[in-house]
Amino acid sequence: MSVAKRDLENRKVTTHRLMEMKQRGEKISMLTAYDYSMAKLIDEAGMDVILVGDSASNVMVGNTTTLPITLDQMIYHGQSVMNAVKRALVVVDLPFGTYQGNSMEAIKSAIRVMKETGADCLKIEGGIEIKESIERILSAGIPIMGHLGLTPQSINKFGTYTVRAKEEAEAQKLISDARMLEEVGCFAVVLEKIPAKLAAQVTAELTIPVIGIGAGSGCDGQVLVMHDMLGLTQGFSPRFLRRYANLGEEITSAVQMYIEDVKRGDFPNEKESY
Ligand code: KIV
Repeated sequence: MSVAKRDLENRKVTTHRLMEMKQRGEKISMLTAYDYSMAKLIDEAGMDVILVGDSASNVMVGNTTTLPITLDQMIYHGQSVMNAVKRALVVVDLPFGTYQGNSMEAIKSAIRVMKETGADCLKIEGGIEIKESIERILSAGIPIMGHLGLTPQSINKFGTYTVRAKEEAEAQKLISDARMLEEVGCFAVVLEKIPAKLAAQVTAELTIPVIGIGAGSGCDGQVLVMHDMLGLTQGFSPRFLRRYANLGEEITSAVQMYIEDVKRGDFPNEKESY
């Protein structure tokens, strides 16, 4: 690769650059991260977008839903990731209860995250119901990535994590919400766990990038939860999840070896002592 091409590749990823990627048909890679060390590895590996997802509630804290995580906790994770990332676009989720009430609360939450983390933009779940909040945040110059389909913050309304928008009425609402998100000025939208055909249709219609998770290959990009794709989570294997490593097993085995060495008096040895 020429120096000029490499410099071009190493440029900071911006919302504008994601739009260019969509226009030339280059797929967008996106993965979650919540802490400094993992974010550094993921950024250096060349990820386009790092999402500080409210899935931190599940994989970092052990809650069964994303609902309990607070704005302060999301800001802590956002700061940790921002301390590491040089190239990727960093998106932070606004957590449940910080933007749905009214648009003034939404703008206050959004400004806090942007000021205190230094992140590039925010992700917000929902369609027409939260249009006013989205518009208010956008009016402050804060870029927003929408999120439709299975929106985990509404799990108590859905009652299940199964595929969304299989029925015509829900599919039509999703299409009209996606159009609205583009019209008001969102720079991208995540589609979670919906039929691949519907996701491909929305992707073809929108001019902004569409990132899928469990939404088939027709989207402009893909996102996964880092703990799931690295095999750190146990007992979670939805059809859309491809595991790229089995770090859970590797960590258990390394920790067991360390325990054995300590118990046998084998660690530390002479070379490891002063
Ligand atoms: O919080 C998260 O990790 C997400 C992804 C599943 C898109 O919203």
